[in-house]
Amino acid sequence: MPRKFLIDTDTASDDAVALIMALRHPDADVLGITTVSGNVPVEQCVSNALYTVELCGAEVPVYAGADRPLLREATHAFWFHGEDGLGDVGYQPSGSAAEGNAVDFLVETLRAHRDITLVTLGPLTNIALAIACAPDIVARVERCVIMGGAACTVGNVTPAAEFNVWADPDAARQVFHSGLPIEMVGWELCRGPATLDDDDLSYVRSFGTELATFTIDCNRRALLASRQQSGEPGLDLPDPVAMSIALDPKIATRVSACYVDIETVSSLTRGMTVVDQFDVTFDERNIDVWGELRSRPANVKVCWEIDVLAWKESLYRSLRT
Ligand code: RIB
Ligand code: CA
Repeated sequence: MPRKFLIDTDTASDDAVALIMALRHPDADVLGITTVSGNVPVEQCVSNALYTVELCGAEVPVYAGADRPLLREATHAFWFHGEDGLGDVGYQPSGSAAEGNAVDFLVETLRAHRDITLVTLGPLTNIALAIACAPDIVARVERCVIMGGAACTVGNVTPAAEFNVWADPDAARQVFHSGLPIEMVGWELCRGPATLDDDDLSYVRSFGTELATFTIDCNRRALLASRQQSGEPGLDLPDPVAMSIALDPKIATRVSACYVDIETVSSLTRGMTVVDQFDVTFDERNIDVWGELRSRPANVKVCWEIDVLAWKESLYRSLRT
């Protein structure tokens, strides 16, 4: 029985590849795609998601969502993904967004189904708004796989923070404390051996399929930016790594439940995912029957390691035919 997915995305080049992985997976029933301002303005996210759905020959509704963060100004990553988010190749969809707002769609769909896997690939604005409107939806989510944050390591937009959480830290803090069954896939998991090196990129191009060609071409700017940003030779694909875990939880080989909070006050560490890996955050209000201080209960399953070969095979499988 295919598992039901909802995907929230600020559709740029790595998001698009993650969408392909889900749309092409035989055991994933994608009920809808909701878009949020992030890498590019939300109208461009809609266009990019529509194009990707059409390229996959799928019939999945795409909804427009928040056009800016809860409290902050909208910020975009044109420098990384290109002005249109897809490498400025000039892809144009033929269809248009579904009627209605992404947040309403999320609430209605979660109320109409149980056991949904919610995958978030962008800032968490839509998710925070949906929970604020309808707290009851939290209990209806089976898994919430979040590409976001950086667990006890450097960020990619500041030394402390990863883009999706940094762009809307207020929304992220609300979501991380909402009770959703969060699996956090940080930016660090797509780096190093998890990047696509030149051999991997040549292997993908050798498939000769439209999806493989699109994957390489729409990430042409991201490849250059990725090398410039971290000095690593390969292409980092954060959203596809997160999607591979959403599609197959076994790809996350080391996971632990931790208390995680999000910095929303400091400008220096805005958007930092503060992961209490060693359970040292004591809560003066949380005292047990013996009068002992108790640490904050874990609210997130943090992924610390992945099976790199399995992640890459999950990607290749979606592009080969
Ligand atoms: O930091 C990486 C994340 O920010 C990815 O989701 C990328 O698409 C951007 O949204
Ligand atoms: Ca994204």
